[in-house]
Amino acid sequence: MYVAQPIEWTDRGVIMLDQRRLPGEEISHTYTDYREVAKAIREMVIRGAPAIGVAAAMGAALGVMHSSAKSAEALGAEFTGICAALAKTRPTAVDLFWALERMKRRFVELTAATCDLGKIRQGMVDEAKQVHLEKKATDEAMGRFGAEFMPREGQVMTQCNAGALATGGIGSALGVIRTAFEQGKKLHVLVPETRPYLQGARLTAWELHKGGIPLTLITDNMVGHFLKSGKVGAIVTGADRIAANGDTANKIGTYQIAVLAKENNVPFYVAAPVSTFDLSIPDGEHIPIEERSAAEVTHFQGVRIAPDVHAAHPAFDVTPARYIAAIFTERGVARAPYKDSLRSLASSGHAAVTART
Ligand code: MRU
Repeated sequence: MYVAQPIEWTDRGVIMLDQRRLPGEEISHTYTDYREVAKAIREMVIRGAPAIGVAAAMGAALGVMHSSAKSAEALGAEFTGICAALAKTRPTAVDLFWALERMKRRFVELTAATCDLGKIRQGMVDEAKQVHLEKKATDEAMGRFGAEFMPREGQVMTQCNAGALATGGIGSALGVIRTAFEQGKKLHVLVPETRPYLQGARLTAWELHKGGIPLTLITDNMVGHFLKSGKVGAIVTGADRIAANGDTANKIGTYQIAVLAKENNVPFYVAAPVSTFDLSIPDGEHIPIEERSAAEVTHFQGVRIAPDVHAAHPAFDVTPARYIAAIFTERGVARAPYKDSLRSLASSGHAAVTART
């Protein structure tokens, strides 16, 4: 089945599919400068929490590779600036900070082991490629755990794009749907458009259509209508950051879907890697919510669709843990009370879970 490739490390540089241009055009850019990678993350050439993490890891590796530093100390000083620039791009997705912490740890290990700049550079490139490989494996595992919870047949709903484009693997929420579909479950996906950036209409609809998974595109204000119909068997979304108590930040609009799901007895699931946990914060109140440009609300592809008035654009909202029936991760399924289940999953493997802004 078709799996989109949002990012790839090559000898020529980091190649990214420009997600701003989808579905109209499939255009890729090649990056050799970490500053350009930071810009690409900020401007959403690449987006989706795990994919942002992969891009940050590759950006850090690019920075080290193309540095003109002549000593490990000089490289170290430069590396701090490289990571700071990449960290300043998007504040909500914790995968970004998780990936940078991991690259920093590897840098410390490498410089402790050798002064050979060539070896340090190669080690950093290998680590970035490893992060990408692990994301692919993570998605597969999450998909297997989550697929069990999908209905045998009928409608399921998602939000935004938590597919291959958002992770670099098969996707988190869409990975679950794809795995269930490949197992023979006859699913039909309801895809809310996800205003204002239209990740649902532009990206999820594109991915599902290319993958041959049946879908119906709906506008965001149709969500309640469809959930009330009694025909939706489950909802599965991705996550940008999960606090210690299970409160989950995801694309704006997710919270209202979760509340409507509860009202209509539809199970609301989250699929997210353990690297999305932020156990350093007690609850969702502490999650930084990215404010994006109002122009993304007042304009559509450069065309004004509202008068010249004030517009708000919080890019994410927080779904309280009480609305979440289960969280699918690569290490198993977390259930309430999340304070215990998330901590137990976090400590059951080797991934770091202390990333912070
Ligand atoms: O602003 P975006 O497009 O980066 O937001 C993406 C989402 O909210 C996704 O649902 C989330 O990152 C999970 S992606 C597997």
